[in-house]
Amino acid sequence: MKIRQPIVSVLGHVDHGKTSLLDMIRGTAVAEREAGRITQHIGATEVPMDAIMNICKDLVKGKSFKVPGLLFIDTPGHQAFTTLRARGGSLADLAVLVIDISQGIQPQTVESMSILKKYKTPFIIAINKLDLVQGWISTDFGSFRTGLANQLEEVQQDLDTRIYKIIERLYTHGFSSERYDRVSDFTKNIALVPVSAKTGEGIPDLLLMLIGLAQRFLEKELETEEGPAEGTILEVKEEKGLGTTLDTIIYSGTIARGDTIVVGGKNLPIVTKVKALLKPKPMDEIRDPSERFSMVKEVSAAAGIKVSAPDLTGVIAGAPLRVAKGNVEELVEKIKEESKATVEIDDDGIFIKADAIGSLEALAYELHAAKIKIKRAEVGDVSKKDVIDTATAIDPLNRVIMAFNVKTLPDAKVEQEAHSDMIVISNNIVYKLVEDYQAWLEKTKREMEKEKRAEIVHPGMIRLLPDHVFRISKPAIVGVRVLAGRIRVDQRLMREDGNQIGKIKSIRTGDESLKEALSGQEVAIAIDDVTVGRQIKVEDILYVDIPEAHARELYKMELTSDENEVLEKVRAIKSKEKPFWGK
Ligand code: GTP
Ligand code: MG
Repeated sequence: MKIRQPIVSVLGHVDHGKTSLLDMIRGTAVAEREAGRITQHIGATEVPMDAIMNICKDLVKGKSFKVPGLLFIDTPGHQAFTTLRARGGSLADLAVLVIDISQGIQPQTVESMSILKKYKTPFIIAINKLDLVQGWISTDFGSFRTGLANQLEEVQQDLDTRIYKIIERLYTHGFSSERYDRVSDFTKNIALVPVSAKTGEGIPDLLLMLIGLAQRFLEKELETEEGPAEGTILEVKEEKGLGTTLDTIIYSGTIARGDTIVVGGKNLPIVTKVKALLKPKPMDEIRDPSERFSMVKEVSAAAGIKVSAPDLTGVIAGAPLRVAKGNVEELVEKIKEESKATVEIDDDGIFIKADAIGSLEALAYELHAAKIKIKRAEVGDVSKKDVIDTATAIDPLNRVIMAFNVKTLPDAKVEQEAHSDMIVISNNIVYKLVEDYQAWLEKTKREMEKEKRAEIVHPGMIRLLPDHVFRISKPAIVGVRVLAGRIRVDQRLMREDGNQIGKIKSIRTGDESLKEALSGQEVAIAIDDVTVGRQIKVEDILYVDIPEAHARELYKMELTSDENEVLEKVRAIKSKEKPFWGK
């Protein structure tokens, strides 16, 4: 049985040396030509077995391998590219997590590990920039194991100390790891291979580890399946003379010129025919080839290939590509199904939108981890209809659209302005979305609580001040001190014996008219339907007359100890008439 080359994704924090590592293997200078020296797209490079044998030299003398080579996927490490990391990670049969020896584990290292954990991808760790260890003497493309023996005792110790720090940190993230030459069971320990992308040292060991793991643990998965190709679109690119092209990773089967293909689109799947297949030369990066692509008639998995075809408008990166053999209808249905994304949907929750299926899933994954519920998940920009649908959610806390890497369309923005009680949170960094959402949730909850409190009649106790009777009746106007709680306009008052008196018509202090007065304030209030000297007199204590239904609500709320005391007094007064009042 023939086996295909494994897809090996290279993941890790920004600047830890992923692209440099691949450059060193390829003998290219892709990293140097990147804008801002930052990788912004997923790349793919085929490294054939003879090239690997060439690099590994002595290490592989007399050995032969079934694996025909490795298809490396380069991913961006910058925090903005979660989607691409997730896409690169999801494709992988095997992965290399690159960690800078001086920097150790950084945020996107952790993110990469969670992607690998999610897809259950076996991986090894390249501890990069070995040349930076003080006093280390490097041999170009030397084996780490051989090189180690030639280092001074204290240099070896320094390396060990640094590696142990990383091992400890990995352990706190739930991974048990060990320097690769000390691992006895590769199913239990993750192998750490010290390498330098500058001198090439350790790269032979790294490549050999990858080949070994692929042969030992992945042989079943890598058995080639004959048949129509299945792939994932990495990038949708306009190319001069070719129009829209699809950089695609073919992970199974065969694709040929003239084949009918079905690819996932923004709306419905697209059916078209392959016009040309362009293959990068071996050891060349698909996103920045040093030589021209070669036109090929046919390609089998696993391969990175540029597909040129008509009518590709609406195709999205991350979508599946399938070769059809008379089963177009079936594939359209299947891709429709797949394009729905495997997001766990809750009965109630927020609405999430993202630019591609992979990013939608990645976002959903992070949201679930943060215990945020999702009711709807769709690919595409935020539309007016999305805003209207969301604004009518029953629970105000679910009136949220979370937009990852997508635009809010102009008419949706206009619509949004008309709905002050819903929000569109957009960002292209997942954890920022989560943070912004949590901040909004806190704020909205606080506001809702405040509103709820405002509607419910709260406990209040006042004393009529002597020498401050401004009018005796119709309405009576008296100076009062709020002893505890608060009073509000339109609330009824009652005496300590439970007798109801009039309503508070207004509250004033000086020239200012107030809606409420709080504990400690001295204000003048106008009371309906009473006469000072008859139903009430100065020095009397009065209470806000709390309706029983409101009292029940109050018992569920968090009140100040002051308010609680007054509520108890009111209950004591009321229960003389009605023993279980408020309960
Ligand atoms: P992103 O793709 O943007 O996440 O970065 P990256 O991980 O691909 O890192 P890149 O290969 O662009 O390297 C980042 C920097 O580290 C560059 O300046 C490299 O020259 C340097 N670098 C990479 N590997 C090594 C190494 O082994 N030794 C030393 N000394 N420098 C290295
Ligand atoms: Mg890079």
